[in-house]
Amino acid sequence: MLSLRGLEKSFSAKGDIVRAIDDVSLEVGEGELLVLLGPSGCGKTTVLRCIAGHESAQAGAIELGGEAIFDASRGLDRPPEKRHIGMVFQNYALWPHLTVRRNLEFPLRAQKMKKELAAGEAVRDVAGLVDCLPYLERFPSELSGGQQQRVALARGLVARPKFMLFDEPLSNLDALLRAQVRHDLHELHRTIGFSGIYVTHDQSEAFALGDRLAIMRAGRIEQIGTPQEIYSSPCTEYAANFVGLSNRLVFSPMGVDRWGFAGEDGGEVPITTRAGIDELTLRCRPDDFELLPGSANAYDGLALEGHIAGSVYEGRHYDLSIVAGSSTVNVHAGVAQGAGLTTGDPVRIGMRWQKGSWFSAGTRVDVVAREGVSSP
Ligand SMILES: Nc1ncnc2c1ncn2[C@@H]1O[C@H](COP(=O)(O)OP(=O)(O)OP(=O)(O)O)[C@@H](O)[C@H]1O
Ligand SMILES: [Mg+2]
Repeated sequence: MLSLRGLEKSFSAKGDIVRAIDDVSLEVGEGELLVLLGPSGCGKTTVLRCIAGHESAQAGAIELGGEAIFDASRGLDRPPEKRHIGMVFQNYALWPHLTVRRNLEFPLRAQKMKKELAAGEAVRDVAGLVDCLPYLERFPSELSGGQQQRVALARGLVARPKFMLFDEPLSNLDALLRAQVRHDLHELHRTIGFSGIYVTHDQSEAFALGDRLAIMRAGRIEQIGTPQEIYSSPCTEYAANFVGLSNRLVFSPMGVDRWGFAGEDGGEVPITTRAGIDELTLRCRPDDFELLPGSANAYDGLALEGHIAGSVYEGRHYDLSIVAGSSTVNVHAGVAQGAGLTTGDPVRIGMRWQKGSWFSAGTRVDVVAREGVSSP
């Protein structure tokens, strides 16, 4: 449905050149919602603005539904109103002086849908989908934030654009409303089946809505894949951190197929990786650890000894900070187990080998652990 090839966009700001997007290529299939996930300033909005035609890239090409809408090498740059793309922004951007009905008619007028009857029907259809029918005659200032954002979603969809762009549309809503509107959006995507790109820096939103995710870093796409692929095998430490593998443990070589946990006396792990690697980093989630009984029984996985440096009750679990060697790891402990632990208590924690992801110099590597041996 949409294809970007080699898109480049730089801005000059106060004499500096800012490379906002750097050789971005991607494709979005018919009916697919691709989520762009990345930190502030990595170029997400700039990608959307180039697709919508509000910004012209310096290099690259964009095709929509098999038609070229932008091609820097040919000087082709179709204006926004001729691209048939719908957009929904973070700050609703409704016209304050127009009622909800007039706001929803606006994109239809831009497309010159002259027949009043057809326009009225289109507005009623889309307002029904997002539960806005009861307040068609109100002004935006007479609506709650969540209602305004629903109207903004409806306005993006009313002209049945070829493609939808969403720029963090839920980030101004409180947690409860965000979950509700996210659910509505998911339903809308299922029923109308629009194709689009959805920008967020919220990991759970990305997983809930994306058919595929693209992780962005400093203007480039770091990894693109299904949520399942990225969750289970992030290709770099950067991507790993973005999908919740927040714990980072560094290991250094101690001999052939023997690796030591940096800073820990005597801690040694029996793992094998390819030759030529002189530093290994293990990434895992706080849920991947379990608290082990105090006795040093053999454990088939990584076992670490440490002490509690902090404990926060989070309702469903305790979030423990545990200092082990020179590292601090976060571990989620069950409420019953966590309640009995206070700062300074010694603990032993374990993680099954298959849960962790291993990296060297930031890039994923294969590591094989020999079974049945424990550490420390
Ligand atoms: N008009 C502009 N002039 C100069 N620099 C710009 C302009 N627009 C964007 N930039 C720069 O380009 C980079 C990418 O900006 P962009 O708005 O695309 O980031 P983003 O990923 O959407 O961030 P956020 O999550 O904060 O919205 C940033 O470094 C930004 O400062
Ligand atoms: Mg942005």
